[in-house]
Amino acid sequence: MSRLVIISNRAPSVDGASDSGGLVVALKDALSKRGGLWIGSAPAASEDPSQSIIMHERSDFDIGLFELEPQLQRDFYLGYSNSVLWPAFHGRLDLIDVQPDYIRAYREVSKRVARMVAKVIGDDDVIWIHDYQLIPLAHELKKAGLTNRIGFFLHIPLPDLQTFRAIPEWKDIAGWLASYDVIGFQAKRDVAHLIDIFRHTLNGELRFNGNMSIDGKEISLGCFPISIDVQGFAAMAAETSRKVEPPALPRLIGVDRLDYSKGLPQRLAGYEHFLESNPGYHCKVSLLQIAPPSRDDVEAYKEIRAELEAITGRINGRFGTVDWVPLHYIHRSLPRNELAALYRYSRLALVTPLFDGMNLVAKEYVAAQDSADPGVLLLSQFAGAAEEMKEALIINPHDPQGLAKAIRRGLEMPLEERRERHEALYKRLADNDVSKWSETFIKQLELPVSTPAPEAMP
Ligand code: ADP
Ligand code: G6P
Repeated sequence: MSRLVIISNRAPSVDGASDSGGLVVALKDALSKRGGLWIGSAPAASEDPSQSIIMHERSDFDIGLFELEPQLQRDFYLGYSNSVLWPAFHGRLDLIDVQPDYIRAYREVSKRVARMVAKVIGDDDVIWIHDYQLIPLAHELKKAGLTNRIGFFLHIPLPDLQTFRAIPEWKDIAGWLASYDVIGFQAKRDVAHLIDIFRHTLNGELRFNGNMSIDGKEISLGCFPISIDVQGFAAMAAETSRKVEPPALPRLIGVDRLDYSKGLPQRLAGYEHFLESNPGYHCKVSLLQIAPPSRDDVEAYKEIRAELEAITGRINGRFGTVDWVPLHYIHRSLPRNELAALYRYSRLALVTPLFDGMNLVAKEYVAAQDSADPGVLLLSQFAGAAEEMKEALIINPHDPQGLAKAIRRGLEMPLEERRERHEALYKRLADNDVSKWSETFIKQLELPVSTPAPEAMP
């Protein structure tokens, strides 16, 4: 069996300490079964970066790290990746910060990584590149003479053509994407957007099998919705919850990196409206919002943090009493088992992104529930997860009144309806867990290119 090489900006830790993250769990099996290598950026920038991948052996698979100097790292990561591509791909053109140094650094990193990676790749290796930070990498690897099959998975949404064209380098990005053999997305909506982008930008033609043909090269596109380790997460939630006390009041929960794409102000506006229009619920529920810091050197992230702190203060000031705090806000990461127990003890989860690739929190919440007395998931229509999780209460985060009504409906939903919805959600999750996701993508990458990918045509 050929070796699998995963390349992403974030790599698992060399000592295995952070292996609980979804992606690592998903790929660990495949990597250790066939002998694998995971390449990612070194955790800290270096003033004198190595020009080669620094290899570390683990018992299950190898880790290779590439180093960058601090300025290049900043312009690449905080700059182009997270101040241009992240906001643009999430439809927030008002937040993009276009700077010549950023795109220069972005191109340079893929060029450099390609030079380093080319030295450690074997002829039969199958290469799988992840996410928006490294889109040009296949183009650079092919320029360096590699003929291996290269796949790409975009974890975040792909915007529509009009939004995409606001990125000054949109034509380049389309061309870089066309260098891959297989491209996978979270949702059908993203596949449709790429078809449109390829047609418009590169005269791509959609073939009968769902592939795109560009200048005689066939590219396989498909929808591969990512998932979680469903059984593992369910077991962790059940076990940890036995060791902690349930909350005194029925709890609503939100768990998100503190990111403007997650619809946090909209969520709190909905909760505020719920409190305003349902005085009977005062002192009877509370909302726990856990939002750990993320990319906090980027201005837009500083702003969303300040905004959230102000709204939290306002809601607690307006409705709180000596004995009741309506909104608890924690700006920290928690161990995954604690998180799992918190989900299990929450009557309702609020997942309200304005645009999201998938949203794994929605899946974790469902997996963590007690099937005899499950809680209710409120899920934004703009999360990739909404394509699959139809038994959730689907909400529009821009409508505070609608959100307030859905909160009340969720809190008052009869047990039988909660069970029915949960059973359907859990079954679909269990049938499509994260190992199935990685196996399906890898299989597609190894098949002849003319084989249709799952949900190739939206
Ligand atoms: P994104 O990838 O944009 O951050 P997802 O919802 O897909 O959004 O994934 C977020 C992951 O981060 C989930 O696995 C979630 O459990 C984890 N996470 C979010 N907040 C916390 C926190 N405070 N502590 C620990 N893990 C967290
Ligand atoms: C999202 C992105 C990932 C990224 C993660 C954490 O899930 O799709 O590529 O790694 O957020 O963000 P960070 O900037 O801390 O790597």
